[in-house]
Amino acid sequence: MFDTIPGLLDQIRSRFAHVDSDPFQGERVFFENAGGALTLKSVVQTSADYAAIPDNQGRENVASRALVAVIARSREDMQSFFNPEGGQFFVGESGTELLFRLIRTACLGTPEGGSVLGSTLEHPASRSACARYAPVGGKAHVLVEHDVSRGSVDLAAYRLQITPDTRVATILHTSPVTGMGVDVAEIAAGIRAVAPECFIIVDGIQHAAHGRLDLAAYGVDGYVISPYKAFSRHGYGVAWVSDRLAGLPRDALIDAPGASWEMGTRDTGAYATFSDVVAYLDWLGSHFTESDAPRERIVAAGEAIHAHEKRLTDAMLHGTGNLPGLAQIPGVTIVGGVENPLREGLVSFAVDGLKAPEIVEALNQAGVRTHTRKADHYSANILAPMGLEACVRVSVCHYNSLEEVERLLEAMRDITRRG
Ligand SMILES: Cc1ncc(COP(=O)(O)O)c(C=O)c1O
Repeated sequence: MFDTIPGLLDQIRSRFAHVDSDPFQGERVFFENAGGALTLKSVVQTSADYAAIPDNQGRENVASRALVAVIARSREDMQSFFNPEGGQFFVGESGTELLFRLIRTACLGTPEGGSVLGSTLEHPASRSACARYAPVGGKAHVLVEHDVSRGSVDLAAYRLQITPDTRVATILHTSPVTGMGVDVAEIAAGIRAVAPECFIIVDGIQHAAHGRLDLAAYGVDGYVISPYKAFSRHGYGVAWVSDRLAGLPRDALIDAPGASWEMGTRDTGAYATFSDVVAYLDWLGSHFTESDAPRERIVAAGEAIHAHEKRLTDAMLHGTGNLPGLAQIPGVTIVGGVENPLREGLVSFAVDGLKAPEIVEALNQAGVRTHTRKADHYSANILAPMGLEACVRVSVCHYNSLEEVERLLEAMRDITRRG
């Protein structure tokens, strides 16, 4: 997709820090995006700018008013990015902390009895929060089984356990281990058909970098992301809550005015860097639509991102030029299957007779950064049912190039030849 515009990929890459190298290893290809995407240079600058400002929000002075305006602007940008109807955005410590906070509020704020429904596909962030707070709220925690061969979960699986007293439900938007997406809108509609009052909370942390978010279409009550996985920086998470979820009793200061979900003084710089992400996507989208409407540009950017990433993962799986793809390696297992339209910029694989950490180390030696997912508390839910102890995760973002995929495939060819 980006190839249709000469020089665009170079322009994209020039906007990110440490694209080709980092201060620790030097030159390297970055395929560890699911662990944390590259950071926009604008985000780096903005972070430094705001770190230097001592003022707090809510004061009667020029600086304070400017900070409040930055936060308001960022919330408008979040509106373009997520496209919800109503509700509110706020930042928290991390994606995990926000998932815990939303899930705790829903579990404790709904009547006792009934269930909290999730799936075995989920990251432990949401599974652990439900396991902890469902019983405290007098509810059973029920997990439906994901489809091991597709590396995803669908409404048919959820439907087996949806009852009129399903009070809270959690959905993982994209798996960080299989890389496969989930049809959130379909599952949410299926839940609402039986349990209209259910509070539905989505872990969008792995999905956010891959574009095409549309909360208005999902019909959910909570959505959480970790901005360092979406071109911003570490140190904060972003959550959206529906007006309904916002109306539940929750942790807040006694007699505090307004409906804020924020706990204590906010980091204006965090909000400002989210505006940088949206500004970047606006710029990217402007190459793919005539429209100057912010939301339309974000949507156009998302479609272009998805198309480019698909090109990269297709090349990774099936090869390019004379280089064989990962799917052609004898004894390979591709997590979630080779042909899977749910894939979002990620290929996880294991090779018979080669240990995943050894492959990752050999790739490191060849200057290609990937990651081992072990069957530990993060990934055993996905890998154990496949009989895998570990897999190699290769995760791309839209700034990665076909040449970088070739580097990976060349290295894999050499590693598998050596055996
Ligand atoms: C799907 C998903 N959920 C939750 C998390 C936890 O995010 P954080 O560590 O940013 O809180 C991750 C991190 O990889 C993730 O991929």
